[in-house]
Amino acid sequence: MNRILVLNGPNLNLLGTRQPEVYGATTLAMVEETCRAHGEKLGLAVTCLQSNHEGALVDAIHGSKGAQNGIVINAGAYTHTSIALMDAVASVDLPTVEVHLSNIHAREPFRHRSFLAKVALGQICGFGAQGYILALDALKAHLEGS
Ligand code: DQA
Repeated sequence: MNRILVLNGPNLNLLGTRQPEVYGATTLAMVEETCRAHGEKLGLAVTCLQSNHEGALVDAIHGSKGAQNGIVINAGAYTHTSIALMDAVASVDLPTVEVHLSNIHAREPFRHRSFLAKVALGQICGFGAQGYILALDALKAHLEGS
């Protein structure tokens, strides 16, 4: 069974109460539960982790080498700033799908740049919490070569 790490970065622990007009009313616990349930349906073992700390996210990405078959990552604001996260994803060489709840390209110019996009399989943004489900579907298809 393929294993997927669903990794969430800074401030995403506040989902549900944080700017719901931008990020929706779904809490992180609900997102994670939905990911695990959808993973079960797809035959993927989903592990979820959230951290507000860049180094902890780097460690989690390193730890996924040999332990996971793919990564879904919403790195929050680190998407736009972190070469360390980009390098970590490049280092582990695992198919990685970048997710954002909001459409980052329709927002402030500083959100248009993503360092992660340079090393990700692809980017899904603007579909709210549904984006995580789309990312799991994409990884399953990628891993099974369909
Ligand atoms: C986000 C978009 C980022 O620009 C922002 O800093 C976040 C959330 C999103 O899911 O839409 O924290 O990644």
